[in-house]
Formats: sequence, C-alpha cells, structure tokens
Amino acid sequence: MHKQPLNAIPPTLASVFDYERLAQERMTPQAWAYISGGSGDELTLKRNREKLDGLCLLPSSLSKVTDGNTKTTLLGQQFEHPIISAPIAYQKLAHPEGEVATAMATEAQGGLFIMSTLASCLFEDVAGQVESPRWFQLYIQPTRAQTLKLIQQAERNLFSALVITIDSPINGLRNREQRAEFVLPPGVRAVNIDKPQAITHPGEGRSLVFQGVMAQAPCWSDIAYIRQHTALPIILKGILNPRDAEKAARAGVAGIVVSNHGGRALDGVPSPVEMLPTIRNIVGEDMLVLADSGVRRGADIVKLIALGADAVLVGRPIMYALATAGALGVAHCIRLLRDELEMTMALCGFESVTQIDESCLWNAP
Ligand code: GLV
Repeated sequence: MHKQPLNAIPPTLASVFDYERLAQERMTPQAWAYISGGSGDELTLKRNREKLDGLCLLPSSLSKVTDGNTKTTLLGQQFEHPIISAPIAYQKLAHPEGEVATAMATEAQGGLFIMSTLASCLFEDVAGQVESPRWFQLYIQPTRAQTLKLIQQAERNLFSALVITIDSPINGLRNREQRAEFVLPPGVRAVNIDKPQAITHPGEGRSLVFQGVMAQAPCWSDIAYIRQHTALPIILKGILNPRDAEKAARAGVAGIVVSNHGGRALDGVPSPVEMLPTIRNIVGEDMLVLADSGVRRGADIVKLIALGADAVLVGRPIMYALATAGALGVAHCIRLLRDELEMTMALCGFESVTQIDESCLWNAP
C-alpha cells in the first residue's frame, strides 16, 4: 500500500508542495496525521499559510545583484543560507535513517540542523556523521537532573546552542491524530530521554491541567537556572506575545524563535507574520530573531526576513522530503528553497540576506 522512498529525484518534483503530495503516498495514515496535522480545528495551521500568501512582494527591477549571495551568520556561525532544519520529533516516522539523514543532508547544503529532544536517533549517531555546527532543542524535563543530563549530552556531542521550546508544556489538542488513532510504531521512540511517566490525576476536586501537567511545566526561573548551568547560548522557541519577548530580552537569552509551533500548540493564535514586526521592535536590532510556521516557498523566507527575522526554520517540508527520498530528498528540498530564495531576492533587488527589509513588502490599501 505504501510506496518506498525514491532513490532519484524526478524532474517533475518542482516544489515543496510536490514533496507534500508524494510523502502522503509513502506514509501510513497515522504518521501522516501526526506530521501534517495541527491542533484543534487547525485554524492556526491554515492562518500561517493565509498570512504568508496574503503578503505581496514589491519587485525592484534593474538593480545590479551580480555580487549576490545568501550567506547567513547566526550566533557567530557561518551558513550558506538562512534555511534551518527545524527540531522535528521522531524523524524515523518518515524514513528509517531519521535525524541522521536530515543532519547529513542539511550539512551537505551548508545549513544549520537543530536536533529535537524527541529525536529518534541517538546524539552520538548524529554527532558521528556531521561536523558542521548543530544546535539542540530542549524540552525541559520533569526533574532538573534529567534536564541537566540532556544538556550535558548535547555539550559532549558538540551541539553549540540550546533552543528551549516554551510553547508546549501541554500538547496541543491533536484531534486529527486522535481520530487517526496515532501511536508511535515499533522502533520509533525518543531514544535520548528517559521514558516519560504518564501524568496521574491529582485527585478528586483537582484539575489534570492545573495541578497535573502544569505542576511540572517550566517557568522563567527554570530558564535562569539553565543559564547558570551551561555556557551554551539559549534561544527561546515559541514566542508570539510581545510581553514574553520583552521578558526574554530581560532574561538575557541569545535569541528567540517567533513561532506558533506550526499550528501544533494552542489553536487560534496569530501567525508569526502578524507578530514579527512588533516583536523585533521590542527586542531591538541585536537579538537573534528566528521565525517559523508555514514556510513552503523561498518567497516566504524573504517575507519573514523582511518582517524582522534573521533566518527561518523549516519543519514539515523536511519531513515530507525525508519520507519521499531520504537524505537525497532533504538535500534537494533545501536546495529548492534556496534557489527560490535567491530568485526572489534577485527580483526584489537584494544582494544579501541582511539587505532584505520591508521595502520589498507592498502595503495593500
Ligand atoms: C512536537 O514538538 C510536535 O510538534 O509534535
């Protein structure tokens, strides 16, 4: 029923949307529901695309761009382009080589790979295959000892920054997964963490949310604690509220990711397109600001950078490409996005990523 990954890229595979179609044919309906779905009524999942599509680019013609390139510096590390492989959980759901394939493909394309706490490959297996800079996404664990153990593993394996996800202390309402009866198949699990303990009901008259899950949820004091226990720069992922951006700046973190978790956390929240300008204004020019949620085209990358991001994270497209053609697919998908980015930059008159600004966005009347 499900097709094997391709071992060559057909010339008809022209965009990320083609990967999406081919990936669905190759995944089980359960894995497809988990990866492609959003939370609740998927209002935010849809809004991410609507807001990106709704932004109009203003081309700028006859500019000389023959010295152009997409080189990007993030926390002092150099990359060939601003397209980051997002920290996606359980990549073996898409392909047996999982995160190792994605990390290798990302490196081959000169990009940055971020490994998830919920990776299905070991730290050591990823670190053994790639040399270029890589970052680690941290879900703060139920105990500080477990959290510190993960950070130390990241440090030992030369991951050079911590991306702490703060928007999902409770899983979004994953109704699509529920309806598809998604469970992790045998052989796919989060291999770098202790088996999570199921949260038990806190008892009569108490709430599973407030006194149950949220009793273990991280707070700002945990960010301060982690800062004291690692020299790695910290980036907070999942900021939409300008007040949280302000607190992040005050907490002294190195960066933030303006994100709604690809519409997978709280449903009904704004898209990063809507929040980026205000947030950039609050944190100032010097803080690293990344963005994600809905990127499918090089033009989307230009739009998010024009609104204030330094670079973007790409999630589902990587999983679609991994399911379609393994590492080859991921490398090709990143290259497709980079080609589209270059073309969009050239036609908007930009020679470098740092030149991209809101002058390329048309304010519809
Ligand atoms: C995990 O981070 C997920 O979005 O499923």
